[in-house]
Amino acid sequence: MAFDKQQFEDILNDFTIDSDELREIAGAFRYDLKQGLKDPDLSSMRMLKSYIGLPTRKETGEYLALDLRIRLDGDGKFEVLKKVAKPLVVPGKYNYIAADATAEQMFGFIADLVEEAVEGDHTKKYFLGHTFSFPSEQTDLYNAKLIIWTKEFATPGVEGKVVNDLLKDALHKKGLDNVEPTAVINDTVAVQLAAAYKHDNVNIGCIYATGHNTCYLEPYADKAQEAMILNLESGGFNRLTPGRFDIELDKVSEKPGEQRLEKMVSGRYMGELFGMALAELFDEKGKNYGFTSIDMSAIMDDEDPQHPAIIKLVAEKTGHTLDAADADKVQDLVLRIVNRSARLVAASFVGILWQLQGAEQHLAPQTIAVDGSVYEKMPHAKENLMKGLSELLGEDAAQVTTVLENGGSGLGAAIAAAVAASRR
Ligand code: BGC
Repeated sequence: MAFDKQQFEDILNDFTIDSDELREIAGAFRYDLKQGLKDPDLSSMRMLKSYIGLPTRKETGEYLALDLRIRLDGDGKFEVLKKVAKPLVVPGKYNYIAADATAEQMFGFIADLVEEAVEGDHTKKYFLGHTFSFPSEQTDLYNAKLIIWTKEFATPGVEGKVVNDLLKDALHKKGLDNVEPTAVINDTVAVQLAAAYKHDNVNIGCIYATGHNTCYLEPYADKAQEAMILNLESGGFNRLTPGRFDIELDKVSEKPGEQRLEKMVSGRYMGELFGMALAELFDEKGKNYGFTSIDMSAIMDDEDPQHPAIIKLVAEKTGHTLDAADADKVQDLVLRIVNRSARLVAASFVGILWQLQGAEQHLAPQTIAVDGSVYEKMPHAKENLMKGLSELLGEDAAQVTTVLENGGSGLGAAIAAAVAASRR
């Protein structure tokens, strides 16, 4: 069975954003941001305060970043003294992010990691910074209450709670009162802090991975308050027109109506969007083949004109054997979905850059720090993001550099712990 030509074209169009629309989305993003600065309720983004600005680069000393022990040496220099890094899910063994796990189990597991990181030392005093990759409402650096799980996390008993209290409790139960949680930061903030410890002009931090989000340094030009990083929770941005697959995906997701931009761009969802479109082409609408963004990377990587890798992968996942021409179409579809994702992320960056530029004629030099598997590893993601920036910014694009900050989560948390310690 060969794909229907018209149906295929329609599907591709559904994932296409032309230049005009991209510009409109960047404008809508800036508008949404401006609204949010007046009052977060007026924005589709949560615009959460982080209670931290950029590092001075004089932060030094030994800190815990949850399961990492790090020594900060100032001026961008640091050393990881111990790294534990164990996932919250090991399929077939345990799963602390599922609806049948408990908050106690989750934080108990995290406390075990901390114990490993301090190598069982229950006496030496440690300040701990915690990178927490979910929307949290903060009143200061310590006090961050999880608003809502995203990315299909479902552990009950954490939403609405102060995560550091849960962690403190779990540490106490393990006899780790020597470890004092002092700071919670979003992972985007961690990326920005880590990059700003090393580079100049880092006003934007972004995660482009399983989830998606961006933060930036709000200068508060009217000096109403000190400059502070705002975690936009840009994955929640919804002033854009979703395609029909986006609408369908949202409906069947864990939290319908939430995280509309994230569901269009992030690694957690791109494979699903692709699978939905493919199911239509196979006349099996509603089937979930379980494609992941890793599969999508493999599809893009198959440069052989006969596409043996694509044919094998699609057969394994769907039971259908494609001919080379349809395998080529499958590759086009994947490219289109990834391209759209990267363009949307670019538009969101441009919305922020326009806001930072204000009434100035030209954009000042800007470094955007990005971390995440999609940005780092997915073929064509970074390149399309850069193209999107050029398309929207014209010659000002030369002012913008992006840096990969892939140790951001640990380093950023250690910096936040150092800043919290210096405030005592
Ligand atoms: C969360 C953000 C986080 C992003 C990247 C999103 O689902 O809401 O807080 O920064 O994922 O991890």
